[in-house]
Amino acid sequence: MTRHTLSLDGRTVSYLDEGHGAPALVFVHGFPFAAEQWRTQIDSFAVRHRVVAPDLFGFGQSEIFGDRGRYSIPAYADQVAGLIEALDLGPVVLTGLSMGGYIALDLVARRPGLVSALVLADTRSEADSPDAARRRSDQQVFLAGNGDPATLAGGLVEAVIGPQTAGRDGVVEAVRAMMLANDRQGWIGALEAMRTRADVTGTLGAIAVPTLVVVGEDDTLTPPAAAEALVAGIPGAHLEVVPAAGHVSNLENPAEFNRVLGAFLAAL
Ligand code: MLT
Repeated sequence: MTRHTLSLDGRTVSYLDEGHGAPALVFVHGFPFAAEQWRTQIDSFAVRHRVVAPDLFGFGQSEIFGDRGRYSIPAYADQVAGLIEALDLGPVVLTGLSMGGYIALDLVARRPGLVSALVLADTRSEADSPDAARRRSDQQVFLAGNGDPATLAGGLVEAVIGPQTAGRDGVVEAVRAMMLANDRQGWIGALEAMRTRADVTGTLGAIAVPTLVVVGEDDTLTPPAAAEALVAGIPGAHLEVVPAAGHVSNLENPAEFNRVLGAFLAAL
């Protein structure tokens, strides 16, 4: 995997960039992951497309801000848009999973010219419920007070991995390792971004590009009902349910995730 860096407004952006061919595919990771979340998609699709996956600010090897006020869903979307422009990639097929989906929805609403097609995986358009926002605040307090991210990762792994994946060799360990490779400031910043994000349900009707919505059949964090709501709101959107997968469907069932994504790309 070839890792690159560039500077956007003086801030380091690290990204994976493989393959050749239009349209370019841009993959935006979820929380608390990094570009490596997309390794199997990059391996599959770089045969025909240029494939780019950034580390969002605070994750992987991109710049980490100590001030949580600098993290927001629109700020991450500006980072991804800046990368698309700096690399002259656009318009791209933009895929976002979970937090990456929140970011993709913000980006397509504000910068529609950069996106030719959209893939929303294991995500939703609604803001946090008051309970969810409170849980994130508690996690921020825990981490800021020097609490060990491994403690949070334990619960998160259980929440994101579906029951049909949990017993499979290596997946749980790989997911946990990806989470723990990130700096605590990145965790705190992303929790801030997700906790304060807007409800963008009202913007769905304006999405004017082909859209695929993907969800793991056992996703309990952004369940199939949330995916159906996206499909109901986005004109012409198409739903694919990935069997034997929970919230990180691209990691839990990469063969099926890649199959539905490949079919979507072939039909564009
Ligand atoms: C993610 O996978 O990005 C997170 O689970 C999303 C969230 O916590 O809302």
